[in-house]
Amino acid sequence: MEFNKNKIDFNEISLNIKRRYYKFIGIGSGRIVYDLENGYVVKVANNNKGIAQNKTEYKISLSDNTNLFAKILDVSENFKYLVMEKAIKIKDIFYVWKYFNVKNNKELYQVKELQNISSIYGLLLIDLRRPVNWGMLNGRPVIIDYGYTNEVRRRYYMHPLLRLLRK
Ligand SMILES: Nc1ncnc2c1ncn2[C@@H]1O[C@H](COP(=O)(O)OP(=O)(O)O)[C@@H](O)[C@H]1O
Ligand SMILES: [Mg+2]
Repeated sequence: MEFNKNKIDFNEISLNIKRRYYKFIGIGSGRIVYDLENGYVVKVANNNKGIAQNKTEYKISLSDNTNLFAKILDVSENFKYLVMEKAIKIKDIFYVWKYFNVKNNKELYQVKELQNISSIYGLLLIDLRRPVNWGMLNGRPVIIDYGYTNEVRRRYYMHPLLRLLRK
């Protein structure tokens, strides 16, 4: 599928998924990811957690200018489908350490740019120690799973009673 920028046909994507046309890449707690084979992936939300994460990632991508995140091309109106740049899997967090010039995760958490995005968007710094949350794009590590913010965690992952206590 060739992309005419700003004109992604989400009906076609949805149909292609039903036809099992795209290669499966991965699955998380709320989304299934397929390869669109044009440099992009589609993240398909299959519950309200997935919708919340698609919404959050889209919001962050719109306002961010750090190049630390894989960029989002578009999202469907209902936030079920989100099209993101495809990154190459990172097998070891060592590649992220190398890029930021640090020797371990403790030093990684001290990197100013990462502290900044963590505090601006409510991302958990410790999540960045997991290589699955990163990918390589144009030779640089980028964050590919950034929908799991404090807000999303509180609203969709926390036990309702705990949530009340935290209010
Ligand atoms: N931009 C991307 N490029 C390549 N693979 C990706 C990308 N985004 C996600 N994936 C793959 O899909 C898996 C699930 O996506 P993820 O964003 O982690 O979903 P969830 O937020 O539901 O956990 C990831 O672990 C990763 O292997
Ligand atoms: Mg994930």
